[in-house]
Amino acid sequence: MLDKKTLFSAVQPSGVPTIGNYVGAINNFVKLQDDYNCIYSIADLHCLTVRQNPAELRQATLGLLALYIACGIDPEKCIMFVQSHVHEHAELTWVLNTITYPGELNRMTQFKDKSRSHADNVNMGLMDYPVLMASDILLYGTSVVPVGADQKQHIELTRDLAIRFNSRYSDTFIVPEGIIPKYGAKIMSLADPTKKMSKSDENLNAFISLYDDTDTIIRKFKRAVTDSDTKIYFDPENKAGISNLLTIYSVFAGVSIDEAVRQFEGKGYGDFKIKVGEAVAEGLKPITEKRLELMKNKDYLNKVMIDGAEKASRIARKTLSKVYRKVGLYRAE
Ligand code: AMP
Ligand code: TRP
Repeated sequence: MLDKKTLFSAVQPSGVPTIGNYVGAINNFVKLQDDYNCIYSIADLHCLTVRQNPAELRQATLGLLALYIACGIDPEKCIMFVQSHVHEHAELTWVLNTITYPGELNRMTQFKDKSRSHADNVNMGLMDYPVLMASDILLYGTSVVPVGADQKQHIELTRDLAIRFNSRYSDTFIVPEGIIPKYGAKIMSLADPTKKMSKSDENLNAFISLYDDTDTIIRKFKRAVTDSDTKIYFDPENKAGISNLLTIYSVFAGVSIDEAVRQFEGKGYGDFKIKVGEAVAEGLKPITEKRLELMKNKDYLNKVMIDGAEKASRIARKTLSKVYRKVGLYRAE
C-alpha cells in the first residue's frame, strides 16, 4: 500500500453524469483502484462557477458518491470525499493564484467555451477553475490523474504551476501526469458526432445519462446520427458517428474495438445501433440498481464521505502547512 503511487481525480456533481463521464473517467477510476493509492473527489466547489440550484447541487453530491460506489469504487480501498469538506483546497488555490498569470487562464479552451455558453455569468471563479483543479491534484502528492481529453490543458497548467512553485520555493510538489484513455477519451454527442457528449446539451437526445432507463437508452441510440455510408468500421475522422458507437459498445460489451468491428461486419446500421443500446442498457442496469439501493442508505453514504474527508484532510493539511511555511507565512508554534 505504502509504496504505491497516488492517483487523484474528480467529477463535478452538476447535472446528471453521462456515459461520457463513465467511459472517459469513472470506469477507469474503478480499473485503476488496485494499482494506486486512489483518491476520488466530488468537485462541488467547481460547480459554483456556473449557476446552480442549491437543493439540486446538494442532492447531486450525494448521488455522485452513490454512483461512484455503484460503479465499483471500493470505499475500503479508495478515499472518496467531497471537495468542500477539505478546506485546504480553497486555501491552496489562493497561494497558487499568486503564481498564476491571467493570460494562462483566459486562453483555456474550457474557459472560452463556458464564457460563451454562460455569457451572462462570466465570473472570476470560472476563470480560476483550473487553479482550483491544480490545488486538488497537488495537495495529495499525486503522480497520476485519469481524465477525459477535455481536461488535458488543465493538467498541463497543473504541471506548470507545480514546476513554477518548486523552482521558486524549492522542491515541494510532485509534477503529475494525466492518464487519458486511448479509446473513449472523448465520447461524442449522439446528435452531432463532431461535438463532445455533454450533460449540459440542450438536446436530450444528444447524450445518454447514467440515470436513463432501458427504453430511453435504446430510443436514443436508434436515433443516433451517423453517416450515409453502410459499412461499419473504425475511423474517427471520416466516420465519427459509427466510430463513437463502436467505442461505446467496446466499453460496455467488454470487447476490443477490433472485436466489436468483427461482430458487426456486414450488419446494417439499424441493427448495430440497437445492439449498442442494448449493451449500454445491460451494463448500466446493475449500476442503477446498486445506486438506488445506496441512495436509500443516506447514513452509510454520509459515513463514507466523513471518513473520506478525514483521511484526505490529514494529507492535505500537511501539504498546505509545508506550502505556507515555504512562502513565508508566520506560524506561531
Ligand atoms: P465533468 O463532468 O466535467 O466533471 O467531467 C468529469 C470527467 O469526465 C472528466 O475526466 C472529463 O474529462 C470526463 N468526461 C466528460 N465528458 C466526457 C466525454 N464526452 N467523453 C469522455 N470523457 C468525458
Ligand atoms: N475539472 C474536472 C472536470 O470537469 C473535474 C475535476 C475537478 C478534476 N478537480 C479535478 C479532475 C482534479 C481531475 C483532477 O472534468
